[in-house]
Amino acid sequence: MRVVPFRFEENTFWLLDQRKLPFEEVWVPCKSAQETALGIKEMVVRGAPAIGVTAAYGMVLAHLSGEKPAQADALLRQSRPTAVNLFYALDRMKPHWGNLEASLQEAKAIWTEVEATEQAISQHGARVLKGQVLTHCNTGPLATGGFGTALGAIIEAHRQGRVTHVWVDETRPYLQGARLTAYELQKAGVPATLITDNMAAYQMGQGQVDAVILGTDRMALNGDFANKIGTYGLAILAQYHGIPFYPALPLSSVDPRLESGTQIPIEERSAREVTFIRGQPIAPEGFPAAHPGFDVTPNHLITGIVTEKGVLYPPFDESLRAALGIG
Ligand code: MRU
Repeated sequence: MRVVPFRFEENTFWLLDQRKLPFEEVWVPCKSAQETALGIKEMVVRGAPAIGVTAAYGMVLAHLSGEKPAQADALLRQSRPTAVNLFYALDRMKPHWGNLEASLQEAKAIWTEVEATEQAISQHGARVLKGQVLTHCNTGPLATGGFGTALGAIIEAHRQGRVTHVWVDETRPYLQGARLTAYELQKAGVPATLITDNMAAYQMGQGQVDAVILGTDRMALNGDFANKIGTYGLAILAQYHGIPFYPALPLSSVDPRLESGTQIPIEERSAREVTFIRGQPIAPEGFPAAHPGFDVTPNHLITGIVTEKGVLYPPFDESLRAALGIG
């Protein structure tokens, strides 16, 4: 059964608290854009398409709570910097500022489009997968509000009998793989095994990985893309072992203003998320830690880009522009 990460009910946007999964199912009410921005920043909700939908409903809540649209928009834009879906959704909401009914219709449309888009991504992605696949972070329904991108393709490929087993990277430091992807694959009944991130090379070297498929937070027009920290390392490992490597994404995750991945802003998160696990310290007190939330994978390490318009192949600056309908 598919997990839904949010719902809009009685003028409140309810977020399933992903920080507490899979141990507790707690719903957090958001009644204003301010509360919504905090929910995104603190990762009550996370995943590129999901934070786009959430930001759109944040603008609906701004109307309901009497917040000024410009201020609400600015607050939401500051919540997380890397996933472009947040900015894409807020740009779509802008023409409807001051009109509650139109805002609500647009937010619903953004959510509905996520579903349709991901159905197509799942079908196209399933065709390039077979045997054993490895994935990183969480790209399932929890990360999107729809079927999921990379995980949607994996689940569909398993349904078709193409994928037999999934290696799930735990995804340090936030553990989206261990906590969320494992939870979703278990619910979907897909055979899977959890590994720590540093085991991926070993599994590949053993010939146990036939493809890597994962998500995208922002892609530049040349195909370079930002995704959860650790993605770049996996791309290098996949190329070394001759394993196909696919990012999966809706075309709304492509930022048409960026020519290359060097222009993608990378979120630096709290060092505490590295030095503590579930409230327990794992390093000497006060020891410095770095925490870039994402890294950028260069286009030459990509086999194909799975989108709702099909799987795109190199040269990506041409295939992406054609898919986006821009010259
Ligand atoms: O920090 P997160 O959990 O929001 O990061 C999520 C990812 O990196 C996902 O791979 C990406 O958003 C794609 S979700 C379909």
